[in-house]
Amino acid sequence: MKRTHHCNELRPAHIGQTVTLAGWVHSRRDLGGLLFIDLRDREGRTQTVFDPSSLPKELVDAASKLHSESVITVTGPVRQRPNGTENAKIPTGPIEVMVESFTVLNYADVLPFPVDDPEIANKVNEELRLQYRYLDLRRPEMTRNLRVRSKVATATRVFMEEQGFLEVETPTLFKSTPEGAREFLVPNRREPGTFYALPQSPQQFKQILMCAGVERYFQLARCYRDEDLRADRQPEFTQVDIEMSFIDREDIYALIEGLLKRVWNIALNIDIPTPFKRISFEEALNRYGIDKPDTRFGMELVDFTEDFRASTFKVFSGTIANGGVVKAINAKGLACATQGQIETMTEYAKSFGAKGLAFIKVEKGEWKSPIVKFFSDAEKAALTQKLAIEEGDLILFAADQWLNACEILGKIRLYCADLLKAQGKLTIAPGQFNFLWVIEFPLLGFDREQNRWYSSHHPFTAPVADDIPLLKQDPKKVRGQHYDIVVNGVELGGGSIRIHQPDVQKTIFEEILKIPPDETQLRFGYMLEAFRYGAPPHGGIALGFDRLIAILCNTPSIRDVIAFPKTAKGVCMMTDSPAGVSARQLRDLHIEVKAAPKKD
Ligand code: AMO
Ligand code: AMP
Repeated sequence: MKRTHHCNELRPAHIGQTVTLAGWVHSRRDLGGLLFIDLRDREGRTQTVFDPSSLPKELVDAASKLHSESVITVTGPVRQRPNGTENAKIPTGPIEVMVESFTVLNYADVLPFPVDDPEIANKVNEELRLQYRYLDLRRPEMTRNLRVRSKVATATRVFMEEQGFLEVETPTLFKSTPEGAREFLVPNRREPGTFYALPQSPQQFKQILMCAGVERYFQLARCYRDEDLRADRQPEFTQVDIEMSFIDREDIYALIEGLLKRVWNIALNIDIPTPFKRISFEEALNRYGIDKPDTRFGMELVDFTEDFRASTFKVFSGTIANGGVVKAINAKGLACATQGQIETMTEYAKSFGAKGLAFIKVEKGEWKSPIVKFFSDAEKAALTQKLAIEEGDLILFAADQWLNACEILGKIRLYCADLLKAQGKLTIAPGQFNFLWVIEFPLLGFDREQNRWYSSHHPFTAPVADDIPLLKQDPKKVRGQHYDIVVNGVELGGGSIRIHQPDVQKTIFEEILKIPPDETQLRFGYMLEAFRYGAPPHGGIALGFDRLIAILCNTPSIRDVIAFPKTAKGVCMMTDSPAGVSARQLRDLHIEVKAAPKKD
């Protein structure tokens, strides 16, 4: 029997019609001789009523064996629910279906966890949910996430097509280019000792597509990175990957603002204001201590370097004399923090390299702190004025080299925000989205251990034109034409205007990054060659699609918006992969395994 309606469709207007529904037994209740089954399909739920006195004996027997999640079809008339038994929480709440006949399509075994409990995600270990992912995905919250993902993928394709972009698929069997994250390798059977690598992103292919004259490319691209996993990172993930020719940064900003406006409209029915604010990397660090600031609350970092230059508190003045800075934040309302909480916070700061975490608690009109005795009246006045100090405040300091001081206080700012949220002293309205372009990143960073420069984004990013002369004189001052798009403290995407001149690219590889010429040739030769036959100026960006969907679905973990994600250890609990392979497969691939795989 084919279904006539989905389980979300029936309304009082259908009363009297005979309908057929198909789906899963969501819940069952035996009441006063009647059996009530909430039938669920992908779209919703409908209450069905079984009256044993009006059903043949074999159906009564079958009904008695229906456990949760058995699959059935039911047929019968729609009727009004008796007065007082309507369910206002679901759209089919006013009606029910009186079952005249039904078919059991499949019985379900006893479940490893209940699917009908809306709180299950908080009660059941996530690994168990991942092992039985098909059950977990039956939960309406998860179905909704898959639906949002599908809708946004379609909206993205439509928008990009409207803007003149071609969707081009690029290979996922690529070549190892050890730049950035560690790669997954695929052994080549045909030539022992050679490997493909799974791409970390389609970066090089998309730039070569620009050389191919495609002009506007996009792809919902699968990327692979063998890195430490967290809530916002998976070993395989999806990017909305974009590249354009004959453009500048403004074109990318406008395109992405248009795309996000469309997506927010379609997914959340929210009209986000554009253009987005912009902030330089330096200002982001100075004010928020991070390059992806959450600007939904203040607690900004304030600089006190000049105020403490001549201080008798040597921790501060000594750091400043060594070229460092003193910065502070005011965690309003956190003076109530216990000694233990402050110690935990200090240990947390130390885990990021802080040497200490000086503090002042403002309680009962008094500044309570082991260090205030060192402060002059002028220093106290500067603190009071610049931090707007009041009763109940907790002031926290970092004295260190500029970047360290910013980053330490940036972490502490977020830590304090979490404490304040837990105490109900900081509320962030749901549905608030603070988009921000972070721009003017330094092109290069310096790795002290390896004593060499590295690209802060990737080696294809173009320097700001005015800064090119500084490349050889003072590399750390060179700004890159790199931009990140940030929302509510999440790095949603990043990109850059690229180098399109083969000589500049070669200089970056060989003279700045110190990659030997033969290695440059081996790793990037094809790209440098492509640039020699007429490479247009170009640039692009990639948005993390999983992160985008997680934000739209208001969930902190991208695992909730990926159908079959991996655990933090990179394991697929359902299929139990990665797994061993046969000796024969290894032989064919010319691989000898030295250590036996460890089993937990
Ligand atoms: P980038 O490395 O900044 O840039 O990546 C772009 C965006 O991809 C998302 N992302 C991830 N999402 C989930 N799991 C991961 N492991 C993961 N790693 C990255 C983030 C990030 O902002 N080729 C360049 C883009 C360009 O220059 O055009 C690139 O890949 O949201
Ligand atoms: P000390 O004189 O080392 O006992 O430090 C006095 C206070 O200053 C303690 O609360 C330390 O946590 C704090 N402190 C020490 N070094 C730093 C630093 N570099 N930045 C901020 N606070 C510090």
